[in-house]
Amino acid sequence: MDEVIRARRTDKVLAGEPLPVDDLRSVVEELVAVAGWAPFHKPVARVHTQAGEMTSIVPWRFHLLDAAGCRALREALVARGDRNKIPRLLGAASALVQATWLPNPTRGDAAGPFEATVENMEHIAAAGAAVQNLLLAATARGIRNYWSSGGALRDTEACGWMGIPEREILLGALFLFPADTGEAEVSAGSHRDRRGGPADWSRWVRLALPPAEDPFGG
Ligand SMILES: Cc1cc2nc3c(=O)[nH]c(=O)nc-3n(C[C@H](O)[C@H](O)[C@H](O)COP(=O)(O)O)c2cc1C
Repeated sequence: MDEVIRARRTDKVLAGEPLPVDDLRSVVEELVAVAGWAPFHKPVARVHTQAGEMTSIVPWRFHLLDAAGCRALREALVARGDRNKIPRLLGAASALVQATWLPNPTRGDAAGPFEATVENMEHIAAAGAAVQNLLLAATARGIRNYWSSGGALRDTEACGWMGIPEREILLGALFLFPADTGEAEVSAGSHRDRRGGPADWSRWVRLALPPAEDPFGG
């Protein structure tokens, strides 16, 4: 387990010319099935379980696109004038997993796509745990992977092409790449070696409790 956690790393594979299409569908289904064993606290709001074909109470959804779908999506983005990295990533990907989280319905006149509630925070945390599970399962199978914010894959039009409902919020566009990347450029995550050591982000607690009350009042 420790080895797989340490081996997971961001591998961005950027292909100018699209790589050959490979069939990773059954492996992606394995990854999704194991990722779904993430912990989650509260069932999602009914709006997410009673509309559409996915009815689970878990606060995440995975929308899966195979290699042929990635190439077709690449073409559509290029046709839209996209000259950014996403088309090149889609040109290399064996699959794309659009991972979303499911916010509680906004009450009243709250601004933004979701309210800053503890329940929403926990929905995001659980969905993040499911994403990490998926990346670890991919790493254990030797599949290069990259958790991206999504760029163009976040917008309403692109999500519409993939049938992702507007009530879901994209948490990550997860790219899965082949081991053989041909002529494609491969780059690492920019913060990979900047995280410091455990002492930089963990500490043993030294309790500073209030003085105990004297039971005899003296
Ligand atoms: C929620 C999330 C979103 C990310 N989005 C991007 C992104 O849009 N572009 C990018 O280059 N890296 C993105 N990353 C990857 C980070 O850059 C990467 O995890 C970090 O540099 C540490 O490298 P490592 O994954 O190899 O440990 C994202 C990571 C997370 C967790």
